[in-house]
Amino acid sequence: MMDILTCMLFLSILVADGFIIHGPSGPLVAPLGSSVVLPCYVDKPLPMNDLEVEWRRADSETLVHLFLKGESRPESQQEDYHERAHFFSDQIQQGNFSLRLDNLTAEDEGRYTCKVDSQKGSGETVVQIKRERFIVSGSDQSVSAYDGEDVTLNCSVDSHVPLEDIEVSWIRTDGDIPVLLFQNNETLQEASDEQYSDRVEFFTAEIPKGNFSLRLKSVRTDDKGVYMCQVFAGELSANATAVLEQLGFSSWHIAVLVFCFAAGFGAVILLCCLICCRSNNTDICLGLTRKYPFLISRYLSHECKRM
Ligand SMILES: *[C@@H]1O[C@H](CO)[C@@H](O)[C@H](O)[C@H]1NC(C)=O
Ligand SMILES: *[C@@H]1O[C@H](CO)[C@@H](O)[C@H](O)[C@H]1NC(C)=O
Ligand SMILES: *[C@@H]1O[C@H](CO)[C@@H](O)[C@H](O)[C@H]1NC(C)=O
Ligand SMILES: *[C@@H]1O[C@H](CO)[C@@H](O)[C@H](O)[C@H]1NC(C)=O
Ligand SMILES: *[C@@H]1O[C@H](CO)[C@@H](O)[C@H](O)[C@H]1NC(C)=O
Ligand SMILES: *[C@@H]1O[C@H](CO)[C@@H](O)[C@H](O)[C@H]1NC(C)=O
Repeated sequence: MMDILTCMLFLSILVADGFIIHGPSGPLVAPLGSSVVLPCYVDKPLPMNDLEVEWRRADSETLVHLFLKGESRPESQQEDYHERAHFFSDQIQQGNFSLRLDNLTAEDEGRYTCKVDSQKGSGETVVQIKRERFIVSGSDQSVSAYDGEDVTLNCSVDSHVPLEDIEVSWIRTDGDIPVLLFQNNETLQEASDEQYSDRVEFFTAEIPKGNFSLRLKSVRTDDKGVYMCQVFAGELSANATAVLEQLGFSSWHIAVLVFCFAAGFGAVILLCCLICCRSNNTDICLGLTRKYPFLISRYLSHECKRM
């Protein structure tokens, strides 16, 4: 009983005398080059005489800014933050230790700790900065495929928005045909048009990296067209396209063609040999063997162009 009472007394003293440090409720999102205020404050002003406020990168411990003995100490700041990180000097007496970071760079992305030390105790809060971005990129070149083959149409999403809040919709642009949909952190196979059902998928393991490339299996001639990867997150949206090109010969067709060419070539060689054997003139024979490969290749390239 006695122990509980002592404990309660001790607790009430801590709460009365100590302080709670407040930070932002979630990550701060800001575009490159902008200024961002990293909040860090206490409810009641703290005595200034032995107040120390330290802002550091949580990962590297790099000193972003320091307030010590009643003054901010730009000389102890790490070079990168010199002239870029500022306290609000007039706010510190009121217990507001927020920091303004100017000209945000890609390297500024990450976690920061605001550590406050005073005779009333100490504490810290963590602030996370995310670079605002919403970029969707597709395939630079068009993709060509053989009838019956599988193709990958690229779509990469680089965004500060968590993936579960993103919607990705692959469509065929001619006719707005739904090809494949990702919504609420799930692939919705049933949203695909009949023409594509069971033939399209995402690379599930790649999704966490923002890779929403589309796998289209057993390509058919009527799959040829422009595909668009549309990405939505609340108010934001962006898209990229991928072109599925003229379909060439399948490997089976090529095998058949190669076989025909080889057979044709063999027949010509045979003919050449026969002529050589019949004529006892070795000059003709040599001339023919020199000339024929050229004639054959000319014939073949002509035939190829026609196809
Ligand atoms: C702290 O000061 C900054 C700059 O004046 C201000 O934007 C912010 O609202 C202040 N925070 C609190 C809790 O007063
Ligand atoms: C912002 O940062 C960029 C790159 O570090 C630099 O080129 C530019 O001069 C800076 N702008 C300001 C206003 O400090
Ligand atoms: C698709 O992305 C991969 C990886 O970035 C790249 O190697 C490939 O060339 C891209 N394909 C097209 C058609 O752009
Ligand atoms: C989203 O899906 C992935 C993989 O299915 C899972 O690991 C992750 O926890 C999910 N996220 C949410 C917020 O449900
Ligand atoms: C996406 O993942 C697939 C499968 O690993 C890969 O082939 C493709 O190149 C990736 N695309 C990008 C843009 O990284
Ligand atoms: C695709 O994005 C462009 C801007 O990049 C925009 O003008 C266009 O309206 C978008 N198209 C669709 C169908 O969302």
